[in-house]
Amino acid sequence: MQPSSKVHLYDFEVASNDEVGEKIFRLVMRSPELARELRPGQFMNLAVPGDASHIVRIPLSFASTDAEAGTIEILYAVVGEGTRRLSEMHVGSTSTVVGPCGNGWKVVPGGRALCVAGGIGAPPVVAAARALANEGREVDVVLGAQMAAKLWGEADARALGAGEVVMTTDDGSYGMHGFTTQAMEALLARHEYDLVVTCGPAVMMAGVARLAEGAGIACQASLERMMTCGFGACSTCNVAMRAGGYKSCCMDGPVFDASEVAW
Ligand SMILES: Cc1cc2nc3c(=O)[nH]c(=O)nc-3n(C[C@H](O)[C@H](O)[C@H](O)COP(=O)(O)OP(=O)(O)OC[C@H]3O[C@@H](n4cnc5c(N)ncnc54)[C@H](O)[C@@H]3O)c2cc1C
Ligand code: FES
Repeated sequence: MQPSSKVHLYDFEVASNDEVGEKIFRLVMRSPELARELRPGQFMNLAVPGDASHIVRIPLSFASTDAEAGTIEILYAVVGEGTRRLSEMHVGSTSTVVGPCGNGWKVVPGGRALCVAGGIGAPPVVAAARALANEGREVDVVLGAQMAAKLWGEADARALGAGEVVMTTDDGSYGMHGFTTQAMEALLARHEYDLVVTCGPAVMMAGVARLAEGAGIACQASLERMMTCGFGACSTCNVAMRAGGYKSCCMDGPVFDASEVAW
């Protein structure tokens, strides 16, 4: 997917903002124009009001959009000051958002696809799974987290009705006891795939990319980097490439062909 020509500053209003897991919040924001423009795998840069010293916007992916209602569903983890203040935005409060940013998933028709997410990487992976299922593909989804309280996305993945859904936790508190890569190995033994998509901790995505490459399957990975400007001007979001050199996560990504990344 090419970068959208409609990267703009939009207003948004909080429709709901609730804690749905341990330090995991589900934000539904109303921003009708942006909701129409966003494509799965793209992200947006939110300004959280309330602290003039904190000028850096927060890059966030989304799980779903509702063009009719004009809303965007975001899942985010509270990890620092910006996301803590975001978690305190109440229904009806407003701010601005820049988007749609970056290149999303390449959603192409084909055979069976495997979607693998770790932790807060789940929202864009569920969005990818939905888009792939809409292309008529069979889609298996693996969603993993450290523990049950940090898992999100099972209901959404099952609602696709497009294939297997496997939940994993590192501590065994829900689903399969183990890592997403172990679940992926079991699925690779049972099914033929022509596409893997993944988002999550870098170490997990490196493992997923290695398994996909070993099996000869194309793999797309959505990467996370610190982002200062969000529009290609500062180089804080550089991604090292296997062939040498760097690409920017905000402009060239966040979705990359996993075989091109120097993991
Ligand atoms: C393209 C993209 C999409 C993202 N989508 C989501 C999402 O859907 N849900 C979600 O919860 N988070 C997502 N993130 C991560 C999110 O942007 C950061 O967690 C957030 O900016 C942290 O802000 P803060 O002020 O709360 O934390 P800070 O106080 O700035 O930092 C707290 C901790 O988080 C780390 N951190 C800060 N920014 C980032 C970053 N951009 N990437 C990785 N680690 C970071 C810092 O190193 C530090 O350890 C995404 C990041 C990118 C680049
Ligand atoms: S965040 Fe500045 S170049 Fe990507």
